[in-house]
Amino acid sequence: MTDAGELDPPRTSGPRFTTQLLKWVGNKQRMAPEIISFFPDHWETYHEPFLGAGGVLGTLAPQRAIAADALAPLIDIWTMLARDPGRLIAAYAHYRDQFEDHEGKRAVYAAALADYNRAPSGESLVFIARACYGGVIRFRKNDGSMSTPCGAHMPITTTSFASRVHMWHQRVTGTAFYARDFRQSLAEARAGDVVYCDPPYSDSQKILYGAQGFSLQELVAEIDRAKERGVKVLLSIDGTKKSGLKEVLHDFPPTLFEREAAVTVGRAMLRRFQRGGASLEDEVVRDRLLLTY
Ligand SMILES: C[S@@+](CC[C@H](N)C(=O)[O-])C[C@H]1O[C@@H](n2cnc3c(N)ncnc32)[C@H](O)[C@@H]1O
Repeated sequence: MTDAGELDPPRTSGPRFTTQLLKWVGNKQRMAPEIISFFPDHWETYHEPFLGAGGVLGTLAPQRAIAADALAPLIDIWTMLARDPGRLIAAYAHYRDQFEDHEGKRAVYAAALADYNRAPSGESLVFIARACYGGVIRFRKNDGSMSTPCGAHMPITTTSFASRVHMWHQRVTGTAFYARDFRQSLAEARAGDVVYCDPPYSDSQKILYGAQGFSLQELVAEIDRAKERGVKVLLSIDGTKKSGLKEVLHDFPPTLFEREAAVTVGRAMLRRFQRGGASLEDEVVRDRLLLTY
């Protein structure tokens, strides 16, 4: 691990954009201005290989970007957003317009989950990702089927969702979306590009987003190769899980990451869920942001 000290965030933080499109555990939208404030002043193409709900992408609204995620139905949503926003709104409305109260919501949610498990697609995932508990998209270990629980809240109306879609659509006009593994995304980055990596938290998120195959070791190896080519990489790491990363970094040159910052997350939704809904308002979690430059 580099012995470079922790950075104070630069005084001017980046742009702020608080309207969320999807609920997704690990969403970085609230921290995005802080994260973006560490980006270099200029770059050619922005890459986000672990897109999730795109908190940083949406806030940055880059002119030229490539975004990807291993969960193909999630990329269906992004592709609809970019190319056919009306279809995305219709997919949401298909479920949301069927109920007005909580009882109706639970029945429709169960139907959406069954639709997803029969044929995984963005059309059902978009409603699930708004109506589920805390964005905790998770899958059963034995058969890979989605087991995401229904949230206690009332999902936003179709009108409200449509206005979010229009807002977000404007912000992704320069972005190409791909359903693929991070290795392919990182291998495509060229000198002068910037890559922001927000991988699944190595321990606690194993059953989330179907991320069982994720390897931090392989990610660090790809980052090393990208840096050699002149790519600038930022890596978010769960601040509470330092030891695993230290072991992985042991095999790499100590100069791989040159700086490190702490970024405030606020409440940790995942732990909140595991504690049966108990609020962790008091626990401020800090993510670490490692920079190769
Ligand atoms: C912590 S979340 C990203 C959250 C995102 N920054 C946001 O603001 O919502 C990690 C994402 O990595 C994706 N993922 C898991 N394994 C992957 C892999 N091998 N390659 C690419 N993406 C992967 C998951 O589907 C998930 O959406």
